[in-house]
Amino acid sequence: MPHEYDIVPIPQNRAAREGASQAERLHWFREARFGLFIHWGLYAIPAGIWKGEETAGIGEWLMHRFQIPVAEYEPLAQQFNPVKFNVREWVSLAKAAGQKYITITAKHHDGFCLFKSAVTNYNVVDATPFGRDVCKELADECARQGLTMCFYYSQDQDWHHPGGYGNTWDYTYDLDAFIDYVDHYVKPQVTELLTNYGPIGLIWFDTPYSIPEQQSEELAELVHRLQPNCLVSGRVGNAKGDYASAGDNLIPEAMVGGDFETPATINDTWGYKVNDHNWKSAEDMLHKLVDIVSKNGNYLLNVGPTAEGVIPPESVERLLAMGDWLRVNGESIYGCGAGPLQNAEGLRTTQKGDVVYLHIFNLPADGVVKLPLAAKVKEASLLMNGAAVGFKQRCGRLTLQLPAVELDPVDTVVRLVTG
Ligand code: GLC
Repeated sequence: MPHEYDIVPIPQNRAAREGASQAERLHWFREARFGLFIHWGLYAIPAGIWKGEETAGIGEWLMHRFQIPVAEYEPLAQQFNPVKFNVREWVSLAKAAGQKYITITAKHHDGFCLFKSAVTNYNVVDATPFGRDVCKELADECARQGLTMCFYYSQDQDWHHPGGYGNTWDYTYDLDAFIDYVDHYVKPQVTELLTNYGPIGLIWFDTPYSIPEQQSEELAELVHRLQPNCLVSGRVGNAKGDYASAGDNLIPEAMVGGDFETPATINDTWGYKVNDHNWKSAEDMLHKLVDIVSKNGNYLLNVGPTAEGVIPPESVERLLAMGDWLRVNGESIYGCGAGPLQNAEGLRTTQKGDVVYLHIFNLPADGVVKLPLAAKVKEASLLMNGAAVGFKQRCGRLTLQLPAVELDPVDTVVRLVTG
């Protein structure tokens, strides 16, 4: 069963050993704060249902849940023909949502590759009627629209390859065979992804269930050798990543002493499931974004497109609503980190330099907000329109009087200039 991921401590001295500073490598990531995760592959075809039975779990784990033999699952590739795939629409949606990077499943646990690989024909170009390199089209469109391209790559679980971890129904796991798989399959494919698709922001490794420390280290070093500024996710395993990966949909209670990223779903599945309608609200996800950034983290929010290449309208609607809020309040998110106040009821703070952004989730009827704040406030205003906010500060406590104007019921941000 999948491990529950704890936040793994990341050695902050890694980049220093390799010439780049950790701050340089993480710069774009800290500026971005909000990214789009895309889980897309053969699992979108069954969409959670196999021979009439619905999986209770996440859609992209269907092959594992039903222990579908490779010989039965692999022919799905002959049905993969997403005639409605429109890469410009996908990237434009991410941009409109205020997401600054896109991470797509280049190879997920089922082993199917969404990119042209010389290492295996089990890929979208060679094995499907679609015959197009999805990762290439996405990388080119991201470059055109100014988003950072990133790849998810399952380096440990591979239910198609006999050397991969996780397929106990067709194969018997063997560590030597796994190490050979890493050396002669994973490393060449990671090299393809970091050679053929332009500048890549991050390789999102996942589920380090069996990978030994040496192989985690070698993969991280390979990524940094091929593209020195490319980040490695914490799930490369053995604390060899460049930042910490939180568990799925998990937001740390408190700051974790470094950079982290929370991968999250809009409903309950990563890969498309026809019957998963448990959609989170845009308000809830905006609060999650603010909460995560208030602790120095990034929010990687997922969509699972259908087999035809359509992002569910419920996902589109919510992402666009988040983008509306970010167009007004993005200054309090992008390039910001933890503020001085943590985890207060209905309040969060983010900060950039001397400016503290106070996020008010529950507007008080009398417009009065009180909070502990040691830093001396010089100016207070509504981020949404610059309107002045009255304030008094005594003995490290700040009292704000919000103006009697229409405020944002989801999150009203007060911009506090300190110093
Ligand atoms: C877990 C799941 C995987 C999914 C990932 C997203 O690792 O095993 O299917 O891609 O979470 O964070």
